[in-house]
Amino acid sequence: MKSRLLHTPDGVRDLYNGEYKRKLLIQEQLHNVFMSYGCFDIQTPTFEYFDVFSNQVGTTPSKDLFKFFDKEGNTVVLRPDFTPSIARCVAKYYAPEEEPVKLCYMGNTFINSSDYQGRLKESTQCGVEFLGDGTAEADAQMLSMVVDSLKAIGLENFQISVGHAGFFNALLEEGKVTKEQENQLRELLANKNFLGVEAFIENLEVSDDIKQLFALLAKFDTSSEDIKKARIWATQYPKLAATVANLEALNSALQEKEIAQFISFELGKISVYEYYTGIIFAGYTFGHGEPIVKGGRYDKLLSHFGKDAPAIGFAFVVDQLLAAIKENAKTKEQGKYITFALGKGRLAKKTLKIFEQIGITCEEIYDPDTRKLIFVNEDLKLRFFLAKGPDVPTYVEHGAADIGIVGKDTILEEGRNVYEVLDLGFGNCRMCICGPESAKELLQHQEQIRVATKYPQIAKEYFYNEKNQTVEIIKLNGSIELAPIVGLSDVICDIVETGATLRENGLVVLEEVCNLSARMIVNQVSMKMQNERITKLIRDLKNVLS
Ligand code: PRP
Repeated sequence: MKSRLLHTPDGVRDLYNGEYKRKLLIQEQLHNVFMSYGCFDIQTPTFEYFDVFSNQVGTTPSKDLFKFFDKEGNTVVLRPDFTPSIARCVAKYYAPEEEPVKLCYMGNTFINSSDYQGRLKESTQCGVEFLGDGTAEADAQMLSMVVDSLKAIGLENFQISVGHAGFFNALLEEGKVTKEQENQLRELLANKNFLGVEAFIENLEVSDDIKQLFALLAKFDTSSEDIKKARIWATQYPKLAATVANLEALNSALQEKEIAQFISFELGKISVYEYYTGIIFAGYTFGHGEPIVKGGRYDKLLSHFGKDAPAIGFAFVVDQLLAAIKENAKTKEQGKYITFALGKGRLAKKTLKIFEQIGITCEEIYDPDTRKLIFVNEDLKLRFFLAKGPDVPTYVEHGAADIGIVGKDTILEEGRNVYEVLDLGFGNCRMCICGPESAKELLQHQEQIRVATKYPQIAKEYFYNEKNQTVEIIKLNGSIELAPIVGLSDVICDIVETGATLRENGLVVLEEVCNLSARMIVNQVSMKMQNERITKLIRDLKNVLS
């Protein structure tokens, strides 16, 4: 028998014995909560026409869908999430007098993400869609259902972070932001590059009030006080004023329901799902580097299927809940460490020096003979490990490290979902296009050239999106300067620090891509769950660095 027969493809897995039993139990507990809120069960097909999940709907990008053809040649897709399916179903079968209605579902969803990312391509979602009620009270009721669900499965420590797609859209509109600026800001927020957002806002030429409102996008935590101030800043701007009023109404409804302690506002939160129009939210707990629940208001989605009705929904990924429950028990027993992943070499040495200045030390890490991989400071409840640069964002994205120190080049290249919170101000260098002097002309004339690099994503972004030049990229792993010398490429896209390597090999800088330095990155869940400790650390480091 071929051994391949016994294995599963990347991204799917078997569940057996106790684990599957635990999963079924979670599903039952969630279902019981949904029923207590008056939900009705609904089932939609596992695969649907491609159009239900198309770009216009604003759901998962087409490249991440599992697509195939039916016998008539129609493109069909395995559902990546439930919301568009349920919107379609409600548009077809539910009359306005049957609303408002709460529908709950459970089933598997499929996302064709890249291989070897440690991500499930098939996972089980359990969720609720509340249709026909556009009030802040309905929003609060959904958040309350999420809190009760998490409590029902035995979690005590969790945080739900709430943003507002309507606030963000009104800010773009009433702040009269250009399309180019909007794209830039969206990218910064999607990459959680709060440093970049701050710089972006500083350069905006808008009224003081609008600037203050923009500044809320760069805060991890928007307090009730901030929202009160936002009301004053938004007075002259009707659309912004309406969304801020909506946030205030939600805030008081949350206080009434006594769940405010589980909720924080983060107005810079944006979703890849473009169908959201009002609040968007995500829930976090220990044990999983990604949110365990996501949701939001999507008042325009049903109109895509020919019906006009407000709606809000959320979905739990049950497989993530399983992992979170396990890790929460461990955290309860051991206390929570903050774990740092440091990029090996000079970066780590300099980082440790700066950490010493704010009282963070770890004796063990300085022992030159040690073969240990993890270094612990029990008193401060801190752990450190050294990793190769490109692996640091991977550890941080998955939550295996709470904090990472790594070069901006690696952050750009890896494109991971992490918060970039601090420029440590050392490791300064530049990403450049270099080559022999003669290659200047090839660049100027937009010739189709060959570019050797350790950073294919950065090179691609620069040539295709910034310069609109078609190039052939050749990935190498080091000593990149060799490539144009021996004729493997015309130019290179590489780091220049002192410029010595270029000089000694007869090469020059032809164009500059961007400046680079060491950055601190933080896992999105850690940023919520360990907010106090991490915010203090950032503040202390900022003081030392300034
Ligand atoms: C980096 C970079 C350049 C060199 C630039 O290489 O890729 O080759 O440093 O430094 P300079 O401007 O001060 O000469 P690294 O030493 O990391 O090794 P690698 O070539 O194997 O990537």
